[in-house]
Amino acid sequence: MAGTGVFQEILDGDVYKYYADGEWKTSSSGKSVSILNPATRQVQYKVQACTQEEVNKIFESAKAAQKLWAKVPLWKRAEALHKAAALLKEHKAPMAECLVKEVAKPAKDAVSEVVRSGDLISYTAEEGVRILSEGKFLVSDSFPGNERNKLCLSSKIPLGVVLAIPPFNYPVNLAVSKISPALIAGNAVVLKPPTQGAVAGLHMVHCFHLAGFPKGLLSCVTGKGSEIGDFLTMHPGVNCISFTGGDTGIAISKKASMVPLQMELGGKDACIVLEDADLDLAAANVVKGGYSYSGQRCTAVKVVLAIESIADELVSKVNAKIAKLTVGLPENNSDITAVVSESSANFIEGLVKDAKEKGATFCQEYRREGNLIWPLLVDHVRPDMRLAWEEPFGPVLPVIRISTAEEGIHHCNANNFALQGCVFTRDINKAILISNAMETGTVQINSAPARGPDHFPFQGLRDSGIGSQGITNSINMMTKVKSTVINLPSPSYTVG
Ligand code: G3H
Repeated sequence: MAGTGVFQEILDGDVYKYYADGEWKTSSSGKSVSILNPATRQVQYKVQACTQEEVNKIFESAKAAQKLWAKVPLWKRAEALHKAAALLKEHKAPMAECLVKEVAKPAKDAVSEVVRSGDLISYTAEEGVRILSEGKFLVSDSFPGNERNKLCLSSKIPLGVVLAIPPFNYPVNLAVSKISPALIAGNAVVLKPPTQGAVAGLHMVHCFHLAGFPKGLLSCVTGKGSEIGDFLTMHPGVNCISFTGGDTGIAISKKASMVPLQMELGGKDACIVLEDADLDLAAANVVKGGYSYSGQRCTAVKVVLAIESIADELVSKVNAKIAKLTVGLPENNSDITAVVSESSANFIEGLVKDAKEKGATFCQEYRREGNLIWPLLVDHVRPDMRLAWEEPFGPVLPVIRISTAEEGIHHCNANNFALQGCVFTRDINKAILISNAMETGTVQINSAPARGPDHFPFQGLRDSGIGSQGITNSINMMTKVKSTVINLPSPSYTVG
């Protein structure tokens, strides 16, 4: 049960504490932030509304802790991460319970998120000891005009304090995907969890606490964005920002100081289906890609671009699968559950109404109860409809009929979002050409978009993000290069 057993100390009455200096604390503000259960729309949890003063103290401790942590041998940092991974898996049930209650994640997916997070931490520890143990050794005589009298040793060193801001849809997994590379590379981390998902995040942080990381190295601050949002991202103590979320990221990138940024800000992933595609495979992936976790994934299929000659058959196969999706409570493992908030549901409804008014064909009746929206496939969507371009982040998927693959590529590239895309065809040569032409961070051939496996590079182009993620890229991104050059008094060559 959340907040019980080893997790009892993270709760003060009915308000979850924040984590600073290796301790669970109650904010001096005396205020809390309520978290609504998306399904019941009732208050489920409360977290501390931290103050700017508390944020300042967190950065002070983080800076001090990082200086010591950078001197901890790499194998010991890895050992601590492995311990955290094991604790996370051991305590998957209370964390999964929070994910069900806070973000309406179906119960089985909630458990998978925590297990995947444990695996991600362990893999990061292993990858970290390999790639961080390697540097570069360069000799000077390869550059014209030089003799071999300069020897350059370069290695990867930590950035300092990493500010990690994960989104509501993976509050555990996308938090550890930032925390673990930062820690293995010798950085400290200040985590600002999403409000919706904060309690799952606090439980995850407690696993790091139980694993025995030094005081102040990892902190977790909760509160109102209006009070501490900009204060955090513009704080002089921040040496790197890793953010996943919506277009707030664009605002952060404009306000942040000169620090490395890693951002993933959503997608409008296009699924191009050609006339020679395996339509059963395509339909299965459209449904899995478009409707899993009710479409609330950056990598969800967000627009189907089907060649007219196969569009009717594809739509009918997709509809047959949609009819089998269960709709209801996350506790019951329903496929489709309430979207995260009323404002999200209202936004989705706005897109649906716009498409209806402009003459799109609804394959199912539009149905909404509270934050629960029934899965909907909207056919014959045209470029003048908002649904063609905007990201619903809900179980509503548009189909645009196209005459040629080029038309599909053009639609994909005309969008500001450019995270992933996919193409279904039996012709691998055509698939490679289309992949090269689609200007997105990743193109999947014959499968729906997805971030994982978690060591694969993951990046968005244009408004979808900055920098590349995935375990290896994140470790590298959270380091900088330091060189030491040995200047010999005279050239020296080893002659063998
Ligand atoms: O929502 C954004 C996530 O990075 C998507 O991850 O492809 O594993 O669902 P996923």
